[in-house]
Amino acid sequence: MMAFPYIEAAEYIKSKTQLRPQTALVLGTGLGGIADTAEEAVVIPYGDIPGFPDIGGNWHKCRLVLGYIGGVPAAVMQGRLHYYEGYSMREAVFPVHMLKALGICNLVLTNASGAVNAEFAPGDVVLIEDHIKPWFDSPLRGRNPEELGERFFDMTNAYDRKLRDLAAERAKALGLDLKRGVYAYMAGPQFETPAEIRMLKTLGADLVGMSTVPEVIAAVHCGIRVLALSGVSNMAAGIENGGLNREVIDSAEPLMSSRMLPLLRDIIKVIGEA
Ligand code: HPA
Repeated sequence: MMAFPYIEAAEYIKSKTQLRPQTALVLGTGLGGIADTAEEAVVIPYGDIPGFPDIGGNWHKCRLVLGYIGGVPAAVMQGRLHYYEGYSMREAVFPVHMLKALGICNLVLTNASGAVNAEFAPGDVVLIEDHIKPWFDSPLRGRNPEELGERFFDMTNAYDRKLRDLAAERAKALGLDLKRGVYAYMAGPQFETPAEIRMLKTLGADLVGMSTVPEVIAAVHCGIRVLALSGVSNMAAGIENGGLNREVIDSAEPLMSSRMLPLLRDIIKVIGEA
């Protein structure tokens, strides 16, 4: 059989731990904390994983943590690969293919986003129900990896309905006002202009961000169920007066992560039964 780099990567991970998780969690900006709560954790820096894309080692703080969260085995990715860093879209989804080879069947993706919907506020947690990718590259452009999935594939239920229901249920039990919305993917690294945000609003977007969508596409292609949660870090450009900078974005982090972390723990506990 042909050796695929993502299979080699998964074999390496398997050699480091007996744990065989079915659920993986990708942590977005400001959410690294949950990985620290994993018990009996094995930590593998991305740089140690054979075949992991490297465009200059800018992921030095990024690592895979395998451990028990709330008693359930999970693989947690602290840090992700973004297209704006220079990875191709195919490279940016290497971790998804690696997780597939590791046996993952549920993928929980998190991110920080700007709110296009004026009714949202910084700190809100939003269940992503669908996405818009208003430009043309795809992680599945080029040779189709037939061993993973079909050339053309359905995105109707990309954000798995059962998992969405489960997240809504868990949020309710925690007394968390979980919002719902459509996430628009922009490539970055520049934030959007007010005119771009008006365009996205017209198209039906509630949130905007620079991650997650390539991973969702790759996961759906290879038959992994997806749940995606976004923490609003700021109002998108032009929605309120004032510009965007690091400070504005970071200031919502404590509220967003204090709401998101208990929800994620809860979801991981029950997701295997959904
Ligand atoms: N735009 C794009 N990505 C983001 C934003 C935003 O306003 N906030 C956090 N990530």
